[in-house]
Amino acid sequence: MGKCIVITGVAGFVGSNLAKRLLDQGYSVRGIDNLSAGTPENVDDRVEFHEADIRSPKVYPLFQGADAIFHLAAKTCLPECVNNPLEAASMNVLGTLNVLEAARRANARKFIYADTSAEYEGINEFPTREEQVRPIGVYAASKHGGAAFCESYRELYAMNVTILRYFNVYGPAQDWRRVIPPVMSSFIIRMLQGDRPVIYGTGQKRRDFIYVNDVNDFHLVALEDQRTNGRVFNVGSGMNFSVNEVYQLVEDLLKTGLQPVYKPELPGEAEITLADLTAAKSLGWKPRVEIREGLKRTIEYLQNRVLKAKVSFPGA
Ligand SMILES: NC(=O)c1ccc[n+]([C@@H]2O[C@H](COP(=O)([O-])OP(=O)(O)OC[C@H]3O[C@@H](n4cnc5c(N)ncnc54)[C@H](O)[C@@H]3O)[C@@H](O)[C@H]2O)c1
Repeated sequence: MGKCIVITGVAGFVGSNLAKRLLDQGYSVRGIDNLSAGTPENVDDRVEFHEADIRSPKVYPLFQGADAIFHLAAKTCLPECVNNPLEAASMNVLGTLNVLEAARRANARKFIYADTSAEYEGINEFPTREEQVRPIGVYAASKHGGAAFCESYRELYAMNVTILRYFNVYGPAQDWRRVIPPVMSSFIIRMLQGDRPVIYGTGQKRRDFIYVNDVNDFHLVALEDQRTNGRVFNVGSGMNFSVNEVYQLVEDLLKTGLQPVYKPELPGEAEITLADLTAAKSLGWKPRVEIREGLKRTIEYLQNRVLKAKVSFPGA
């Protein structure tokens, strides 16, 4: 049996992909999720799975014997965070604090926190470095609150914490069942179903998209490379694309002839995101999956599921 790694949010997009990667590398994985957003079919059979809420002290025993913890569980749907800020804070701040407490009691070697590029919402320097943050929206503020407690536990208890600021992660198992799914899944699914893709706003907002396997490459660095201890890293591709360009890339692959429908802008979305990757690259990591290849793999994954599920989309 390899080292035991606990993943919170294991039934979600990034967590389920990470679990598979760690298992394939020989680690054993204990996964926690309350299935509020994730689904059991995302969870690899080899995971020791516990359906539990990270806010409950009942999870403490699940951290015993853990070598490291990836804390990914969070309320991630932006409109839901806006509609219910107290619940967002409860999950993302108090939930994180409870997981830190569990990790401290279990004396785990390493704690890795899934932070977000939304921390940079109010910063207008591109590419953006890790040094300054200015969260504005509810989701960003709640993730910032969680990160602040990570820093606090690092200082108070000498906990070995690494904070990863993911940019727009995409790939298989992304939550395409949401009312407003993440942009790539949303385009692909609608177009596979013969529906016109929906763009909120003008489509000129630019996003740094990173394929989930590249994020997992960095997860392994964060887990085993001592130079990551106590540090914060951007995890993006270092390139950005407008939403209109993403539509065109998907259309080039699917060749549907469907034109986008433009709808009013969603509130609270940054104009531009772009990661400065100097810190992450200095450890020998670099993103490898080019956007067309990543989209091709995402399309392959969604093709079966969407056609089988016959999903319908509110907001269409
Ligand atoms: N996907 C991205 O592009 C992205 C970008 C930046 C940051 N992140 C961060 O990465 C992490 C993972 O994101 P994701 O895209 O996989 O999100 P996701 O919504 O797919 O997964 C989150 C998981 O956490 C679980 N969860 C939520 N509240 C819980 C609770 N109280 N107890 C137990 N489980 C709970 C959900 O059921 C879900 O399975 C999150 O912390 C998110 O803030 C993601």
